Amino acid sequence: MEQSVIVTGASGNLGAGVVKKLKAAGYRVLGTVGSPGSAEALQKEGVEATPLDLSDEEAVRRYIDDKTDSVFAAVLTVGGFAAGGFCETDGAALRRMYQLNFETSYFLVRALLPTFEKKGGGQFILVGSRPALEAEEGKDLIAYAFSKRLVFYLAELINVYGKGKNISASVIVPSTIDTPANRQAIPHADFSKWVTPEAIADTICFLLSDSGRQIREGVVKLYNEA
Ligand SMILES: NC(=O)c1ccc[n+]([C@@H]2O[C@H](COP(=O)([O-])OP(=O)(O)OC[C@H]3O[C@@H](n4cnc5c(N)ncnc54)[C@H](OP(=O)(O)O)[C@@H]3O)[C@@H](O)[C@H]2O)c1
Repeated sequence: MEQSVIVTGASGNLGAGVVKKLKAAGYRVLGTVGSPGSAEALQKEGVEATPLDLSDEEAVRRYIDDKTDSVFAAVLTVGGFAAGGFCETDGAALRRMYQLNFETSYFLVRALLPTFEKKGGGQFILVGSRPALEAEEGKDLIAYAFSKRLVFYLAELINVYGKGKNISASVIVPSTIDTPANRQAIPHADFSKWVTPEAIADTICFLLSDSGRQIREGVVKLYNEA
């Protein structure tokens, strides 16, 4: 049976690179995106893409219920960024980042775990960020850092739950990803110091390989020279 991987955020800067690499490696990729327009654009390129609001728990459950048992892994790239220290970060700002960075991962993990248990295993690849690990980096990005910190703890909890069940989670930690949006936002930076979506996608391919699958509790820091 063809092995299927769910990639959330398949139209994103990172997600698109991951989809390309996984398809080239022979996997069937089931992409989810936030909007119908993104789904149509991907479908034109031959990618199976479904618009799915991952902050809608019930919609996520319905999407996963439709999936066959061929899904062996999920790469959860959906997430976003917000700047702001304590003074700028009110409850609404916290909740926005919580929803976008944590709930979008949590709902999919929760929906997919029973499938993985039934079929005897499965793998989650989550995307964290450096400000969630280093307070110096996070002090002016409070909501972003808190919400991504929860992603690391989600991976820890999956690994405890999944021990002995062949279910595991790893976290990819990029520094600044070399994307058109980042180049526009920080035009004078040395882009060669950033990490490319291709390098992250290669790492994810390795994590999903027979060797990579043996890694438990992986936290992979792709900082390059940034
Ligand atoms: N960019 C960086 O420098 C950087 C650094 C460290 C960590 N990260 C993390 O890396 C990941 C990927 O970043 P990126 O820059 O590639 O992101 P991006 O280009 O903004 O892509 C975001 C993707 O998520 C989808 N999406 C947004 N909200 C959604 C929702 N509620 N439900 C379902 N899908 C939704 C978007 O779909 P549509 O296209 O349909 O809107 C798009 O496919 C994120 O978790 C981010 O926090 C990024």
